[in-house]
Amino acid sequence: MGNAEALSPPTWLITGTSSGLGRLLTERLLERGDRVAATLRTPARLDDLAEMYGERLWRARLDVRDPLDVRSVVGQAFEDLDRIDVAVSNAGIGVYGAAEELSDDQIDQVISTNLTGSIHFARAVVPHLRAQGGGRLLQLSSMGGAVAFPGFSLYHASKWGIEGFIEALAQEIRPFGIEVTLVEPGVVETPFYASAPSTPVIDAYADNPEIVRGDIPPEEMPGDAEKVVRAMIELGEEEDPPARLLLGVDAYTHVTAAWRERLRAAEVTSDRSLGAVRDDWVAPDRA
Ligand SMILES: NC(=O)c1ccc[n+]([C@@H]2O[C@H](COP(=O)([O-])OP(=O)(O)OC[C@H]3O[C@@H](n4cnc5c(N)ncnc54)[C@H](OP(=O)(O)O)[C@@H]3O)[C@@H](O)[C@H]2O)c1
Repeated sequence: MGNAEALSPPTWLITGTSSGLGRLLTERLLERGDRVAATLRTPARLDDLAEMYGERLWRARLDVRDPLDVRSVVGQAFEDLDRIDVAVSNAGIGVYGAAEELSDDQIDQVISTNLTGSIHFARAVVPHLRAQGGGRLLQLSSMGGAVAFPGFSLYHASKWGIEGFIEALAQEIRPFGIEVTLVEPGVVETPFYASAPSTPVIDAYADNPEIVRGDIPPEEMPGDAEKVVRAMIELGEEEDPPARLLLGVDAYTHVTAAWRERLRAAEVTSDRSLGAVRDDWVAPDRA
């Protein structure tokens, strides 16, 4: 451990810290003595924590939809705090409704926050982590980044999308000592569901009870925000963190069932898959 690391407590940079998991993570880290660079759209929402924790809380206004701001705020955080050990891409939103019911603006908002916002954040953070010789990136995905439910198509598009980006990025940056984990919680009670807007219902979809419309009952919210945050803190410290971490009984059950079904379906059509190949193709000898 170098001098700077020995002197300063573990330091985290987090997006979307005004509420829910981001806020709780910020609180728990500050309580245990870490430093937090908290970014959020309305910094005053952390006034109480600023008063309690003084300089250990660094704050900046950041809307992750603005790539220039993302780069400049991330750069400022590294400059002011010298070293950041764990960056957490947490900001995210949802919207309920059948795909046909969504507005163009809702599509822009969800994609520019969850998908391109997270891409800009990762691209802003990586050069600094590389320059300091390593670090960690936690990307909030969801069980909705691996399974799909009717009525949540746009959210799934954003989370499946960020999973693909992160999976490739992780392989590119591992040689620099940067470890990446996709955090995949199931349903956890936070302001997320109440904040997600609904769409006007099109008659043709009105009678389909499968379509998620936003009224998720408490018995379908098995996740514990405290335990999810604790798992994220452990991921920030773990020697050899996993590439993905499902969190919650619903996440584990739905995603493992969906993977089994995808594998089964791929095997059922394997003849057609393996047959779609050039007649003169010879497999390269990689030995
Ligand atoms: N709760 C769950 O069941 C669950 C499950 C799986 C994954 N997740 C993921 O966990 C993450 C946190 O969600 P949560 O449950 O804690 O919900 P939340 O309480 O609604 O928190 C979302 C946070 O994202 C921020 N945010 C939204 N748009 C933003 C933008 N353009 N720029 C910067 N910040 C923005 C919000 O800030 P404002 O206050 O300014 O809007 C808020 O701080 C999300 O990525 C979500 O997809 C949640």
